[in-house]
Amino acid sequence: MKKEKIKKTGKNGKMEKIRKLSMALAIVLAVGSLIVCKKEGAAGSSQSQSQGSGQSGGALVGIAMPETHVQRWQKDGANLKIFAERQGYQAQVAYGDADQNQQNRQIQTFLTNGAKALIVANVNDGVGAAIADAARDKVPVIAYDRLIMNSGDYDYYITFDNFKVGQFQAQGIEDGLGLKTATPDNPKTITLFAGSPTDNNAKFFFDGAMSVLKPYIDSGVLKVAGPYPPSSADNDNFQRIATENWQAPIAKTRMENLLNGDAKDAVLDAILAPNDTLARAIIEACLTDAKYNPSSGGKLPVVTGQDAEFASVLSIKNGQQYMTVFKDTNKLAEAAVLLADQIIKGQTPNIPGATLAAGPLASIGDTGRKTVQAYLLEPVIIRQNNVNVPVDAGFYGEAEAAQLR
Ligand code: BGC
Repeated sequence: MKKEKIKKTGKNGKMEKIRKLSMALAIVLAVGSLIVCKKEGAAGSSQSQSQGSGQSGGALVGIAMPETHVQRWQKDGANLKIFAERQGYQAQVAYGDADQNQQNRQIQTFLTNGAKALIVANVNDGVGAAIADAARDKVPVIAYDRLIMNSGDYDYYITFDNFKVGQFQAQGIEDGLGLKTATPDNPKTITLFAGSPTDNNAKFFFDGAMSVLKPYIDSGVLKVAGPYPPSSADNDNFQRIATENWQAPIAKTRMENLLNGDAKDAVLDAILAPNDTLARAIIEACLTDAKYNPSSGGKLPVVTGQDAEFASVLSIKNGQQYMTVFKDTNKLAEAAVLLADQIIKGQTPNIPGATLAAGPLASIGDTGRKTVQAYLLEPVIIRQNNVNVPVDAGFYGEAEAAQLR
């Protein structure tokens, strides 16, 4: 009976399924573009809904961002869309909610919709299957900000010099603690955090930081409270300090545990925090401890960060978080779209403001399967004395900028 019904409605059922799927897709896309329109991109919100025209013939560019719980990706997604449309493309943006299966489905949808290029900031290596599908369809993929590891199915990567990001964080600690003149009889104490173990960038940030800090640890000027991986290659200890999917609550809980455990009897002078979202969670945890709370006579450790998120730059201005690293993601988005445009048009990429990694740096594009072309932009270190840099670069909206001036 059941079989019969299926048989009878076979073709119609299929059509119905397709109709339902395309309705679902339309809803997803509508919601996606609503998100994009709501979250104002620094490239200028007035153009965020404009359709592509110009010489690009309105071809579709699919933009897959990993998550929204770290603020920057909302801005990245919005900016990429705006720049792509300015360049004459249609653009669709999707956010993966830190779920690689979800992002893979979004990438499949872009391919089904006939995308001519994909710009992908992945969640983890599980994206490989979707990238292989793009290669099968001859759709070029640009790994955006995060290198897609263990894939040989794409050729381009655009990012910041992530090793330098880590070096800047460590330089903040070096300056903040006066390490250059410190001696082992009066050592300073630090505790270490890293980003998501599934994000290749997290290793670069950490290794960049360790390239500066390790000599101080080796000479006894700097002591580490809690696990100490000398580099990300010490996988066991790296996992212990890593923060799955860059989730702030995980970092906060780990900090609370450190305060009651490994760092209980110490006074922490510094905390290596890999980005602003985690830095603020770590500071929140520290403030619950009188030792570190200025309102009870305590002193916050030097806490590092990255991304120049408004809340963190305000915190730096107000003397809480010590530093951040400004990566002008407006420029990254613009450069990524230019790269996509040149690839689609069969031109040899030439990206002003980005350097093609060469020599020993070329390994930045090593996915483990092949070395893709890696284009690098320069990060900038931000401390209390230069919070104006991201402000002057137009990185914030007017109301936020006013609070930072
Ligand atoms: C990015 C950082 C970001 C982090 C968490 C990294 O891959 O480079 O800018 O803070 O992911 O989303």
